[in-house]
Amino acid sequence: MQSFLSIQHLSKSFGAFTALDDISLNIEQGEFICFLGPSGCGKTTLLRLIAGLESSDQGEIWQSGVNCTKFPPEKRDFGIVFQTYALFPNLTVFDNIGFGLQNQGLSREKVQTTVAKWLETIGLSDAGDKFPCQLSGGQQQRVALARALALSPGLLLLDEPLSALDARVRVKLRETIRSLQKRLGITTIMVTHDQEEAMAMADRIVVMNHGHIEQVGTPREIYQNPASRFVAEFVGAMNFMEAEVNPQNQTMLANQPLALAPQPSRSGKVLLGIRPENLTFGEGITELPVQVETMEFQGTFVRASCNPLGWTSTSAIKVDVPVHQLANLSLHPGCESRLVIQEQHIHVFPAE
Ligand SMILES: Nc1ncnc2c1ncn2[C@@H]1O[C@H](COP(=O)(O)OP(=O)(O)OP(=O)(O)O)[C@@H](O)[C@H]1O
Ligand SMILES: [Mg+2]
Repeated sequence: MQSFLSIQHLSKSFGAFTALDDISLNIEQGEFICFLGPSGCGKTTLLRLIAGLESSDQGEIWQSGVNCTKFPPEKRDFGIVFQTYALFPNLTVFDNIGFGLQNQGLSREKVQTTVAKWLETIGLSDAGDKFPCQLSGGQQQRVALARALALSPGLLLLDEPLSALDARVRVKLRETIRSLQKRLGITTIMVTHDQEEAMAMADRIVVMNHGHIEQVGTPREIYQNPASRFVAEFVGAMNFMEAEVNPQNQTMLANQPLALAPQPSRSGKVLLGIRPENLTFGEGITELPVQVETMEFQGTFVRASCNPLGWTSTSAIKVDVPVHQLANLSLHPGCESRLVIQEQHIHVFPAE
C-alpha cells in the first residue's frame, strides 16, 4: 500500500556541507512522527524540504500519491508551527486564526464560526480580541497551532513547538497536541531534540545524526533495541563496558565468560551497553566488583555512580536502585560492592 508521505533518497547540501544525505522514509496516514536528534543533525532542514520552504538537491517527496518535490509551499497541503510563535503581532488572536480562511475567500459567517470553534478547542474562547503580546508563550503556541489547523491541512509540521516554553506548560501542551492530533487523525511530524518528549508523544521516532537516519521505530523499539551506539547513548541512559570476543567466539567481560550468543562476525574488542535500571547490586552468575562513588536521590530510585575495580568501562557505571530495595543493600558512597550483569539486558556494539 502507498504511504501517505514518501521521502525517497533525499539529499541537501549547503555549499560543501551535506545537511541531509540520502534520506528515505515512509510515513502512514494518521501517524505522529518525531524527528529526534542533536542540534545541527538536519531535522529542520528535512522538515523545510517537506514543506517546500527549501529545495532538495536530489530525491523525491510524494504526498498522497503526488510527486510534490518541485511544488512551492502554497501548492502543498500542510500547516506548520515554529519554535518561535511567529504570530502576526498586529492582528488579534481571532484574525490570526482566521487569516488563511479569509484568504481562501470564505464568507464572514463561515470564518466567524470556524475561528470560534478553534478558540474553544484550544481553550481560549475569551481571548479572540487580544493581541499576541497579551498572551503567555503557551497561549501563543496554542494560537499558532489553531492557525495551522484552521485550513484542515492533510499534514501538520511542528518544529520544536514546545522548546521555548517552561517545563510545566510544555508537558500540558504536549498532551493538548497529542489528543488533538488523535481526534483529528492528522498525520503529524514534530521536530524535537528532547528524547523524553519524543518518547511520550510519537507513534514512531526517526533518530537522526549528521544528516542521516540512524533508526526508525516505536519509542519502545528505539529504547529496547537501539540499532547503534549513537541511538543507545542519545535515547535514555546507557552504560558502556569494553569486552573481548575470544577466538572461541565467546564474549569475555572482566575475564568472565558471558552467556551471550556467539559473536562470529566480531572479534577482538566489542562494546557492551546496559541500562542503569538493568543493573543490580548483589549476587548472581556474572558479578563485577565496583566501588560506589556517589548516590543521587531521584524520587523513585537512587542513581549510584560506581567505579569498576580491576576492569574497564568507558566511564563511571550508573546503577538505578529502586528506593524500596535500598534498605536491604546498605550502600553508601565509598563502599565496595558487586554488580550483577544479566545477559538478556546486554546490547552488543562494535568497539570504536
Ligand atoms: N540556509 C543554510 N545555509 C547554510 N547552512 C545551513 C542552512 N540551513 C541549515 N544549515 C546547516 O545545516 C545543518 C542542519 O541544520 P538544521 O537546522 O536542519 O539542524 P537541526 O537538526 O534542526 O538543529 P537544531 O536542533 O539546532 O534546530 C546545520 O549544520 C546548519 O548549520
Ligand atoms: Mg532545528
